[in-house]
Amino acid sequence: MKKIVLSGIRPTGQLHLGNYLGALCNFVKMQQEGIYDSYFFIADLHALTTNPDPALLHENVRNVVAEYLAAGLEPDKSTIFVQSDVPEVSELYLLLNMHVGIGELMRTAAFKDKARKALGITTAPSADDDADMAKEIIGAQSNKRVNAGLLTYPTLMAVDILIQRANFVPVGKDQEQHLELTRRFARRFNAFYKVDYFEEPQNFNFGNAAVKVPGLDGSGKMGKSEGNCLYLADDEKTLRKKVMRAVTDAGPTEPNQPMAEPVQNLFTILKLVAPQELVQQFTDAYNDCSIRYGDLKKALADHIVALTTPIRERIIDIKNDDAYLARVLRQGAEQARERASATLRDVREIMGITPFWK
Ligand code: TRP
Repeated sequence: MKKIVLSGIRPTGQLHLGNYLGALCNFVKMQQEGIYDSYFFIADLHALTTNPDPALLHENVRNVVAEYLAAGLEPDKSTIFVQSDVPEVSELYLLLNMHVGIGELMRTAAFKDKARKALGITTAPSADDDADMAKEIIGAQSNKRVNAGLLTYPTLMAVDILIQRANFVPVGKDQEQHLELTRRFARRFNAFYKVDYFEEPQNFNFGNAAVKVPGLDGSGKMGKSEGNCLYLADDEKTLRKKVMRAVTDAGPTEPNQPMAEPVQNLFTILKLVAPQELVQQFTDAYNDCSIRYGDLKKALADHIVALTTPIRERIIDIKNDDAYLARVLRQGAEQARERASATLRDVREIMGITPFWK
């Protein structure tokens, strides 16, 4: 029996270089190794937690599917599907919620972050304002709302993983807490019903700690809400313009000076997309103060463009091929539902929810 790998991405926009280098690249590698059964999906139900515009959500699902395929996921090697095409997920989500505490959900970092946003709290997180936040959420005076879907986000994610009985879940650092909760829910379920049913899933990356792709605006990671993304679908001109505008500093004034964060970020991305010799060449130039950031940026842009251009061209082709998309997603849905419905059947039986009339 092959081990199961599963991961998903929320369709909240087009995928950027951070998604590609941090996640998608690993998905493709895992698929190519051929030693796993891999499941890659679009988490459209998770996207609903932030109440997107319906037409936009639908379009973004199409974008991400096309981007998955353009990046190298193949429907005959991996199961590629849309989360909402597997109704078993929604049912198991209801069942599993009966064993999930609202306290542990409220303490999740991602929830606190999003709840603070929904409540319009802009001060830095502190122990105190955890209490304030709880009051705001529960208090009858409050006219702001943190939706219950946001709270139970980790239950839904645990269900994605457990319903396919996945062993490995390649995710970035920001999702590790959700994975930890998934393991906890699995243990709790097993203990409560005195079964040895769910296995605990592990994170997975290829020996190299989760890659974090920085933005080009000086600090932090590349992210949609940061507005600093190089998109896979960006054309060459746009990419070059974005790279040439990247924040740097005045340049090194003495040999072997430590790099400021914005400059380090350029090197971090260069390492991910360019050959080692080129990185060394620019590192040496930095260290002997002969570096010209314009050259560094131009080289970086060249390599990014070389990497993303074939992907962009495939994205355009695939997005226009409705019949192909339909075929891929129907096949994916069927395969994903097969495994999911077997798990759901077992869980219902374990929990005592079985019909009298069958
Ligand atoms: N929460 C993940 C993210 O935002 C997306 C996701 C949903 C996921 N369900 C999953 C990832 C299951 C891995 C496994 O990135």
